[in-house]
This record gives sequence, structure tokens and C-alpha cells, in this order.
Amino acid sequence: MARDLPVTGVEQFFGEDEIIVSKTDLKGRLMYCNDVFLRIAGYTEAECVGQPHSMIRHPHMPRCVFKLLWEHIEAGDEIFAYVVNRCKNGDHYWVLAHVTPSRARNGQIVGYHSNRRVPDRGILENTIQPLYQKLLAEEQRQSDRKLGLQESMAMVHRMLEEHGMPYDKFVATLKNAA
Ligand SMILES: Cc1cc2nc3c(=O)[nH]c(=O)nc-3n(C[C@H](O)[C@H](O)[C@H](O)COP(=O)(O)O)c2cc1C
Repeated sequence: MARDLPVTGVEQFFGEDEIIVSKTDLKGRLMYCNDVFLRIAGYTEAECVGQPHSMIRHPHMPRCVFKLLWEHIEAGDEIFAYVVNRCKNGDHYWVLAHVTPSRARNGQIVGYHSNRRVPDRGILENTIQPLYQKLLAEEQRQSDRKLGLQESMAMVHRMLEEHGMPYDKFVATLKNAA
């Protein structure tokens, strides 16, 4: 969803002290969005609740990042990920998202929760944006979407092997070095 919607190239910003929050059901449909979410994305609550989270997907996001996200949370793990989202008017905003499963008393996963903060500019510009551009180019280079995802996932795994660490450590290392 939202893959072919137009973008303006204009970046929007939110406050260092603000948190963009959303909660979803097991399928990633929005159940709750806080005011900061609605303000920066430019939607009303009624436009968001019940919609797939991909309604704010930006076409410059590599698909493999979302594959990693879902692999982690469906396995019951948390994940930190840098994400660029699309506003309703086509502008965009960068976040560092912390996505976690929400559990019932019996431990069963009943939905997911994302808290997003302002990302470090240096990490974005020096590491994340160049990495995502390479991953996206790889996905777009392949004729077939499935093959594109396979190849970009392989790129991520090669990069992590070079760094000698799993994805969560890699993201933590970036944060600690900032
Ligand atoms: C709690 C939670 C938060 C998410 N946050 C975002 C987000 O901020 N932006 C986004 O594009 N996708 C987010 N996703 C992932 C979407 O569900 C979806 O996988 C992604 O937009 C790719 O959609 P597509 O497969 O239709 O291209 C989130 C998923 C969950 C469960």
C-alpha cells in the first residue's frame, strides 16, 4: 500500500521531547495513534484507525527493513529501526522506531506497539540513508519483487556479517557511537 503515492521531498520534523506512538493488531492494522503521530502525518484519527500501518509507508523505504521488523516482532522480540514515513501531503519524516509485541496476561502476543523518537542526524546521513539507498536500488534492479527482497536481505546479512554482529547489535552500536 502507498507504494506509488507521490512524494514532495520536503522533510517534516518533530520535537526531541516528543514520541510518535502507534499500536496495531496482529496484522499491523492501526488501533491507536497518538496526537504527535496524527499531527506529523497529517491525518485525523478516523482516517487512520483500522487502516494498515503501511498507509504511511514511504516509497524510498527498502522492503527488507520491514521484513526484518516483522521477523523480529512475530518471533516475540523487540526491534529498533530507522524509518522514513510519508505524510498525507507527500512530505516525509525520519524516525528511530522501537517496535515491540504487546502481550496478554498469558504471554500470548495480541498486537504490536511502536514508539518513535527523533533520530540522530549524523547516523541518518552517514550510515542509514546511504545504506537504504543501496538496498532500495537492489530491490528496484530486480525484475521481480520477490527476487528484489531476497537480494536486499542478502545484502543486509552480508553487511551484518562484515560487522560481525546481529541486526539489533548493529543498530545499538550506531546509537552508542553517536
Ligand atoms: C507496530 C508497528 C509499527 C509500524 N510502523 C511503521 C511505520 O512507521 N512506517 C511504515 O511504513 N511501516 C510500519 N510498519 C510496518 C507495516 O506494517 C508494513 O510492513 C510496511 O509499511 C510495509 O508495507 P508493504 O509490505 O505493504 O510495503 C509497522 C508495523 C507495526 C506492527
